[in-house]
Amino acid sequence: MEITNEKPITKEFSSKEFITRDGTQTPLPMTSFRQPLPEMFGQEHYILRYAANPIFQDVEDWVIQDNPYLRPIRPQDFSSIDFNQSLRKSEVLNYSGLAAHRMLLNIYENDFVFLPSEKFSTKKADFDLFYCNQSRSLGEWIRPTLEAHVFGFLSQEVTVSGRWSIEALRTYLWSLVEAHQKSESAIADAILASSDPKKAAVSFLIQVASDFLSESSPAARIVLGTYGTMLSDMFKIIIDEYGYGVHKTKHSSIFEETMVNCGLSPHVHAYWQFYQSSWLALINYFHYLSRDHSKFFKFIGLLFYTEATLGYTCQLWSKMMKSVFGSNFNTLYFDEHTHIDEHHGRMMFENLLMPAVAKYGDIIIEDFVRGIEEYLLLQEIADTDFIAQVKWADQVEASKPIAQNIYQKIRSQELKHPQKTFVKLANKLAVTCTYDIDQLLVVESGTLKLVTGHLQAIELGAGEGIIIPQNRLVGSKSGPEGCTYYLDALVDSQLCVS
Ligand SMILES: [Fe+2]
Ligand SMILES: [Fe+2]
Repeated sequence: MEITNEKPITKEFSSKEFITRDGTQTPLPMTSFRQPLPEMFGQEHYILRYAANPIFQDVEDWVIQDNPYLRPIRPQDFSSIDFNQSLRKSEVLNYSGLAAHRMLLNIYENDFVFLPSEKFSTKKADFDLFYCNQSRSLGEWIRPTLEAHVFGFLSQEVTVSGRWSIEALRTYLWSLVEAHQKSESAIADAILASSDPKKAAVSFLIQVASDFLSESSPAARIVLGTYGTMLSDMFKIIIDEYGYGVHKTKHSSIFEETMVNCGLSPHVHAYWQFYQSSWLALINYFHYLSRDHSKFFKFIGLLFYTEATLGYTCQLWSKMMKSVFGSNFNTLYFDEHTHIDEHHGRMMFENLLMPAVAKYGDIIIEDFVRGIEEYLLLQEIADTDFIAQVKWADQVEASKPIAQNIYQKIRSQELKHPQKTFVKLANKLAVTCTYDIDQLLVVESGTLKLVTGHLQAIELGAGEGIIIPQNRLVGSKSGPEGCTYYLDALVDSQLCVS
């Protein structure tokens, strides 16, 4: 049996007559619930309007200190992006995916309360712009388009078939957990193998900070409402995550300490620019399922899996953090999860999943499975993406001679390529982005700092260049004298020239 992501709504208002309050009989007005809402303009118009909010424009620093509302999304690129088509699996790391995920996180997090730790009066205008109705309603209007753009491929890639019973579910879930407990962490291995494990570990902390600094907030959405004892059991898990009201023991507070111990800012989204698209996809997937309660069963399936497996993952991460930062490094955040998440996994299984099937029937099982399988696919993509970024950051200088060689051939017209030169004003920061095709970048005058991660940069002087591989996150800042540089896409055959 094939399960599709969006089930069609089958109930419609009938055209038969109804009795109004004054006793006359009348048919319902000719309309359809399923008819798309009228759009005066295309979705691209509303996306541009949403993105024009001043808090989403470029910033002047790499780290955004203590302002949870400033979240640059580079709307200057949007005229060349078509958000209306779903990306295929092979395209999910395309730049449009990063842009869509940045917007989606902003839209989803409009539900949450974020306040800076200091100087609120200087940030009050940004606070108003983040939470205002204009931003909220535009965001809600464009959300389904952006979700289909980045998550549409999941329904093509993940097929849940066969007849599911409670026994089949039990076997499936616990065999997944068992297999996970025998696995290694490819991420931990890549960090330890890096030429600079500390920087690679910091990059990893930054990726998970997108979620851990407001941990469990997406799940808190499903303890509103009423669905019997299952809701109360869900609430117990949430209050565990919230440290039973003791702020110091709230999981996000413990993670703040981890950030500080590594010399990082504990403020929400301080490292916004360094989130990789595939890691935004992970946190956004939690939001995607928890924001839309028709996806409730997918969400609790996903929560079971993450709770039941995070304990073991955290053991591996704790070990890796101690290897990188020394045996005295405070790994409380990871150790706390090793201890408690096994318990949460069991609670999810016994007090939510099993009672839900008993009460609502086998029909919901496929949603549990789909929530897990889709997440596993996203996790695989995120692991690969993170490892590729670490490797590139380690070897960013390696492409210098190749870049120089190709550039000379372009300038001498031995290679037919557009003669493109761009000018950058002094000390101008370009917010991080990615390219869908490898790029040749060569500085012609002045200096340009290329940033591949937090505190990871390479400075290029006149005549120096590199190749920026497709899908790698990169930002740049010109030196005090400004710079001119060459930038253009390279096709594979040109990369072979050396
Ligand atoms: Fe937690
Ligand atoms: Fe947990």
